[in-house]
Amino acid sequence: MSLTFVRDPQVTPGLREEFSRLWYDVSRAGGSVGFVPSVTEEEVRAAAGAQFARVAAGEHRMLGAYAGDGESGADATGGRLVGTAFLRLHTDFKTRHWSMVVLVMLDPGLQGGGHGLRLMRETVDMARDAGLEALRLEVRGGMGLESFYGRLGFKEVGRVPGGLRLAADDYRDDVQMWLPLD
Ligand SMILES: CC(C)(COP(=O)(O)OP(=O)(O)OC[C@H]1O[C@@H](n2cnc3c(N)ncnc32)[C@H](O)[C@@H]1OP(=O)(O)O)[C@@H](O)C(=O)NCCC(=O)NCCS
Repeated sequence: MSLTFVRDPQVTPGLREEFSRLWYDVSRAGGSVGFVPSVTEEEVRAAAGAQFARVAAGEHRMLGAYAGDGESGADATGGRLVGTAFLRLHTDFKTRHWSMVVLVMLDPGLQGGGHGLRLMRETVDMARDAGLEALRLEVRGGMGLESFYGRLGFKEVGRVPGGLRLAADDYRDDVQMWLPLD
């Protein structure tokens, strides 16, 4: 299956609904996108609303990945939202040459087939086209994600041991990764 990528998709009620569902499904499947699998739909819906508020304020930019039959779905491509990445932009003059990549996720049914690499390459292209000089990521340790991002050229530049606590007895390293865009 090939995916279509759309930068800054129009934020319709349908897109809000699909994003909320995607984020919930990915979180329930154990994805490393801010929550743990016990998260509720209401918690994700609230977080999705806050995320679109950041987009509306120009603080974040969205990249959407779509799949579908060209007829159903709520977005301009006629496809179903199956993946996202967001660039968190900075206004401070000291840091506005780079961006943090957040909420990188793919529908659990599509993971492991190379779509994640494509999603991230599109994200890198979007950042380059925006004139950014580097990208940064904060990765949850213990998920193997360092090797995924390493395939794209990201390098580990810092690690806070146990900096993330997912549950009373589940501490993970907070891993910082960095990609110069030259
Ligand atoms: C992370 C994610 C976007 C990767 O997308 P994907 O489609 O599953 O990954 P790909 O199939 O493109 O993987 C490309 C390569 O990276 C590797 N890889 C992907 N995820 C990996 C992981 N968690 N650990 C180790 N390697 C991984 C694959 O094995 C593959 O390598 P190969 O070609 O040598 O087999 C996707 O798995 C996802 O949405 N996960 C849940 C959300 C999440 O954790 N996001 C990360 C936020 S920091």
